[in-house]
Amino acid sequence: MKIITVKGYKELSETAAQIVLQKIEQDPEAVIGLATGSTPLGLYEELAVDHQLNGTSYQKITTFNLDEYVGLPADHDHSYRYYMNENLFTHLDIPKEQTHIPRGDAEDAAAEAKNYEELIQRTGGIDLQILGIGRNGHIGFNEPGTSFSSITHLADLTSSTREANKKFFDSVEEVPELAISMGIATIMRSKEILLLITGKQKQSAFEQLTKGEVDESFPASVLRNHPHVTVIIDEDAKT
Ligand code: GLP
Repeated sequence: MKIITVKGYKELSETAAQIVLQKIEQDPEAVIGLATGSTPLGLYEELAVDHQLNGTSYQKITTFNLDEYVGLPADHDHSYRYYMNENLFTHLDIPKEQTHIPRGDAEDAAAEAKNYEELIQRTGGIDLQILGIGRNGHIGFNEPGTSFSSITHLADLTSSTREANKKFFDSVEEVPELAISMGIATIMRSKEILLLITGKQKQSAFEQLTKGEVDESFPASVLRNHPHVTVIIDEDAKT
């Protein structure tokens, strides 16, 4: 794992944007994996500003998001589809049909997960996957205990994750209990991974990521087995 330490959130977002933009420059048809949560918001803002100023084209880019809450339709303002449209896609020239997020309101969520996995593989896999990390080490919605061989599946959210994510909802009761999430094996098949870690509340997660055992009880630890992971971390999360 290559670890880049930056001063604060702005620098973290700028550094992440440089890596994404470099990838797009090298391969204008790249398949990019995207994350939600608060962490990548600054990165998405940087990409939007760059698009406006420099006209970087996303017309041939394909994206796959990590996950979506089960039960929320695309136009629900707490769905990840809504978040992605608002925070990134509407600011770029990417054709909407090239942006993929599991459908939270699919009639058969398990079938939706299976189809999503197949679509990722049919598209040729993910070239660069952006990740955040949960305080308990979850990546996507792969909570502690998820098998390292899991592919896109229905994931139960732990109460601590629902508690952490209630900031996007009016109350914790409103946070769905189930999500469709890429699996650990799906994420690990990405050719390159960019993990963003910011803020004091992620200190112990970083510590466990770098010093703990590679074990399913701490999902992000699997990244130590991946040949091409870059971690960008700010000083607050590191010390
Ligand atoms: C959610 C998402 C993850 C994200 C994590 C951390 O649970 N499913 O993909 O990495 O939260 O979120 P934040 O960046 O808000 O700390």
